[in-house]
Amino acid sequence: MAPSNNMDAFRELLASSRHIVAVAGAGLSAASGIPTFRGAGGMWRKYNAISLATPEGFKANPSLSWQFYHYRRETALRAQPNNAHRALSAFSLPTIRQQISPGSTFTLITQNVDGLSQRSNDQIAAMFPEEGNTADEKLQLIEMHGKLFDVSCTAKDCRHVEYNTKSPITEALGGTELLVEHGTLDPDIPLEDLPRCSKCGSLARPGVVWFGERPFHLDDIDKLVEKADLCVVVGTSSTVYPAAGYAMEVQENGGKVAVFNLDRSEGDEEADYLFLGPCEETLVQAFGLTIPENGKISVNTPSE
Ligand code: OAD
Ligand code: ZN
Repeated sequence: MAPSNNMDAFRELLASSRHIVAVAGAGLSAASGIPTFRGAGGMWRKYNAISLATPEGFKANPSLSWQFYHYRRETALRAQPNNAHRALSAFSLPTIRQQISPGSTFTLITQNVDGLSQRSNDQIAAMFPEEGNTADEKLQLIEMHGKLFDVSCTAKDCRHVEYNTKSPITEALGGTELLVEHGTLDPDIPLEDLPRCSKCGSLARPGVVWFGERPFHLDDIDKLVEKADLCVVVGTSSTVYPAAGYAMEVQENGGKVAVFNLDRSEGDEEADYLFLGPCEETLVQAFGLTIPENGKISVNTPSE
């Protein structure tokens, strides 16, 4: 059966679901001005993922890989969360979710490394201080591909990880974000001028998961996916595993799947619900939220 695009029916399903997970990808941050990977203007249309986002590529030329990640750090630092992040953050907040889907649990599993969901969670939690919601304790977020702002030591006997939002991260990388935009990377930044471990001085790398590496928190994710009865898939092409397999797993266990994407994506014909359009609009509708420019987010009453 073709997926339904009936928002009211989805809202009813949401209201009766007990264990909800969302699986997000680059489309979630598109409205914040962060380029996606595979769509129009996507990073992997201009750049080779193997040379920039694999352990082998980094080893062969850390300078190129660092310029790519420096560019992405600078872009993410200047970006702001959009209404899709906000809608998910609001739904993460127990006091809001209680009004939409009483008694449910919710975890956002994101493939994004830009940190925008965490920033959005912090901002939304700060809007509701009286409920004692703190982003860390109550808003369940898993960044399965790591964080752009984690910097990890490459030395086997150190592996020190440091959260670092310095801009630029090293002097030598300063300005190279413009080269990335023009598609002409400088292959020759000396190793000693690239980011180094603050503990042992070895070459550091971005604390993200590259192709061929094991994503973070897989055990926690497996447990959540195992018990989920609703999987909300947001802004991902659903081509990179394991994330791409979670929706089908939920369905195989008898749960439902709802896809929110600008365009058609891999396997979406199997979804129970498919909402085509910008997720910064469709998610806000789907959760039935009002998100004012300035002021507190609220849940619409049924007549609205
Ligand atoms: P992709 O670039 O593969 O897919 C982005 C998806 O977002 C596409 O399906 C677009 O149609 C959709 N999209 C774009 N703008 C949107 C909007 N405003 N609202 C809703 N949908 C929108 O990115 P991912 O699926 O995240 O991994 O890619 C998965 C992984 O592959 C990434 O985490 C990264 C990448 O290579 C690594 O680097 C290891
Ligand atoms: Zn070190």
